[in-house]
Order: sequence, then C-alpha cells, then structure tokens
Amino acid sequence: MKIENPWKQNPWFESVAVAQRRAQKRLPAPVYAALVAGSEAGLTIGDNEAAFGEIGFAPHVAGHRAERSMTTSVMGQDISLPVIISPTGVQAVHPEGELAVARAAAARGTVMGLSNFASKSVEEVAAVNPSTFFQMYWTGDRDVMIQRMDRARAAGAKGLIATLDWSFSMGRDWGSPEIPEKVDLKTMVRLAPAVARRPRWLYEFAKTGAIPDLTAPNLAPPGGAAPTFFGAYYEWMTTPPPSWEDVAWMREQWAQLSGMPFMLKGVCRVDDALRAVDAGVTAISVSNHGGNNLDSTPASIRMLKPVSDAVGEQIEVLLDGGIRRGSDVVKALALGARAVMIGRAYLWGLAANGQTGVENVLDVLRGGIDSALLGMGLSSIDELHPDLFAIPVGFHRALGVPPAPGDTQAPLAVTAIS
Ligand SMILES: Cc1cc2nc3c(=O)[nH]c(=O)nc-3n(C[C@H](O)[C@H](O)[C@H](O)COP(=O)(O)O)c2cc1C
Repeated sequence: MKIENPWKQNPWFESVAVAQRRAQKRLPAPVYAALVAGSEAGLTIGDNEAAFGEIGFAPHVAGHRAERSMTTSVMGQDISLPVIISPTGVQAVHPEGELAVARAAAARGTVMGLSNFASKSVEEVAAVNPSTFFQMYWTGDRDVMIQRMDRARAAGAKGLIATLDWSFSMGRDWGSPEIPEKVDLKTMVRLAPAVARRPRWLYEFAKTGAIPDLTAPNLAPPGGAAPTFFGAYYEWMTTPPPSWEDVAWMREQWAQLSGMPFMLKGVCRVDDALRAVDAGVTAISVSNHGGNNLDSTPASIRMLKPVSDAVGEQIEVLLDGGIRRGSDVVKALALGARAVMIGRAYLWGLAANGQTGVENVLDVLRGGIDSALLGMGLSSIDELHPDLFAIPVGFHRALGVPPAPGDTQAPLAVTAIS
C-alpha cells in the first residue's frame, strides 16, 4: 500500500500569512503587486496591520466556556461570524473572480461585498450569494448612478455600500504595477516573461478558455458594452466630488428604489461619522481603504473607538483594514465594531486556492475568533469590551472631534486619548 505524505502540497493553509506566500508564488508579479498595493510610502498599510499587535490579551487559565457564539448581523443580514467580504476589484486574480468569493462567503454564512469595478456582474454574484451588498463609487452623473443602483436592486442586492474615500493619489514608492488597458494577444506577449514564471496561474485561466477580463460589467450602460477598467477610472476621475448633500441624496435614492440599507465606507473622523448619521446611513465602515488612499492616515483600528463612542448607539459601525487574524477581529469588536470587512486576506486565499482558499481564510478567522473567546473566558462576542485588553496609552486617534458646547477653542483636529 502506498502511503501518501500528508504534508506534500497540502492545499489547506493554517494562516493568512501562508495564503499570502502562496499567492505570491502563484500570481505573476504585477498581479501580486496590485494586491499588496499601499499608496506612497506604505505607512498606513503598515500601521493597519502593526497596530493590532499593540493591543494585548489578558487570558484566563481556567473557567473557560464550553460554548461560544459569534453570530451577528450586518445591515439586516444574519451572518455566522462577524466578518464580511469587503468589495475589491478582483480582476485577474482567478478566472472565477468574484463568483468564487461570493460562493465561499455563502458557504460560510456571510455577506459578499461586490465592487462596481468587479469583473463579474451583480446578477451573477447575487445569484450565488443572496446576501450581496453592491458597492458604488461616486462616478457618472445622477441618472447614471440611479440606473446602476436600480440594476443592483433588480439583481437582488440587499444593501448599498458607498465608498467615497478616494483622492486619486498616484505615487507609490515601490512602483505601481502595470495594468494593461485590455488583455489582448499583444499585451499577453509583452507580459509573457512575468506570466511565464507563473504557469499555474495561466493554467487556471487556460482551463476556462478565458483570459483575464479587465472590464467593469457593472458599469455598462443598459444594452451597451462594459467599459474597460481605464474607461471606468476616467469617468470616476472626471466626476465632481460629492458633498454631504450628495451622500444624503444617494442614500435617499437607494432607499426609495429598494427599501434596503446603506453603508458609507471610508469614515476616519468623528465629525464625518456624525454627518453620516445626519445623512441617514444605516452603517459606516471606519476605513482608510486598506492604506490605498492618503498615506499617513492612522490605522483604522486606532480611529475606531472614538468614532464608535460617538455614533455606535445610532448606527452600525464596522471596521476594515489590516485584518489578518481572528484575534484582530476580536480586538476590533472590543473597540466598538459590530463586524469587520476583509480585503487582501480573501484575495490571497482566492489566489492560493480559488473558492476553497476563500473558505479557508474565513475558517482561519473563525478559528482565531473562537480561540480568543475561549482564552478570555467569554461565551459570546457580545461580551467583548476594551477593559478586557491591555491597550497602550495614546493608542486611539480621535480625529475631527467637534468642540464641546461652550468651548471657545478651535476644534481640535486630532486628539490622542488613552
Ligand atoms: C486590490 C484592492 C482593490 C480594492 N478595490 C476596492 C473597490 O473596488 N471598492 C472599495 O470600496 N474598496 C476597494 N478596496 C478596499 C477594500 O474594500 C478594503 O477597504 C481594504 O482592502 C481593507 O484592508 P485590508 O486589505 O487590509 O483588509 C480594494 C482593496 C484592494 C487591496
């Protein structure tokens, strides 16, 4: 009898870091570089991850709970763990792209966030995961936005995510990867050296008979062709930036069309969180776009508690940025998040092992959350509280705190609180 070596090419991975290493091995260098991207010097993306390490656990030695619960809901959708999929343009990572991610999220009982820059249509994605939120940037004129919202509603989207934290910052110290206008034969020949070093990635696409699709089908006009990624980006860049009235308008339009909830993604400041409440949002995500927007913005976990303290009683507060472990999720929940959204972690899982890889990432996070609850002697994520952790003085960044009534001083833009 032949005995298989159980460690040989085991596709299961035990941590997100292992998934990342596999993604790096599998993907052509420019595609991998596009996933790890952080803007400018990468200070924010670095802080997003490192800041979680500053928060310490205080585990118990006995008295642990045999049963532990981590179910919750986000914008009306029940989820089996406090982690949902953050929208990303998953172009070219895997032939099944967002469909694989949506199926994995459905299999693990959670929400799929679908980017308007995605390579798969909202109709296809909502068909495989009924708990899909559609994400939109502020791009195109109002009629176009209404048409796109209505399309998402008709497809069955259960919520809208408006991502408005983008300032078209271009320079990256590590050098941006090339994103071709379209993937035709000429481009393939030019990129061949990078692709040739990653034959498995090419093989996955070759099996499907498809080449990486760099169009944005969710931005196609009714009955028209999908724009290229660059065409879509151009429309976005040339759209005048939104005001707070525009945010309220978008939420109102979506509510009228669908009756479904609305999330504003990218909130860093307390004053903006208060304005989001005034605009009628259901939820916000405290986020710096995974370190892809203005570099030197603090880690999202540092900005979370001040925002949650200000608006957490009125709306749902989520966090995204730097989540790599279940323990990160637990820390975010303790500082006031109802749930977290993940980006790179699932992209690496997708690159490493398709749908199974994304399920694997969600399982890794679930296992980590459960271990943290066990070690802390808790029976539910609802019991998480900042006092249960060792948090260094000055950890939190309270940005844009409005002056207290009667305070004659100019509003303090940034306050470090303990
Ligand atoms: C490659 C990539 C593409 C992204 N595309 C989008 C997008 O289309 N829409 C959006 O709202 N956010 C986008 N994001 C931001 C993510 O939704 C999320 O805020 C971020 O990835 C969270 O940080 P993390 O990657 O450390 O988990 C993107 C992020 C990455 C890494």
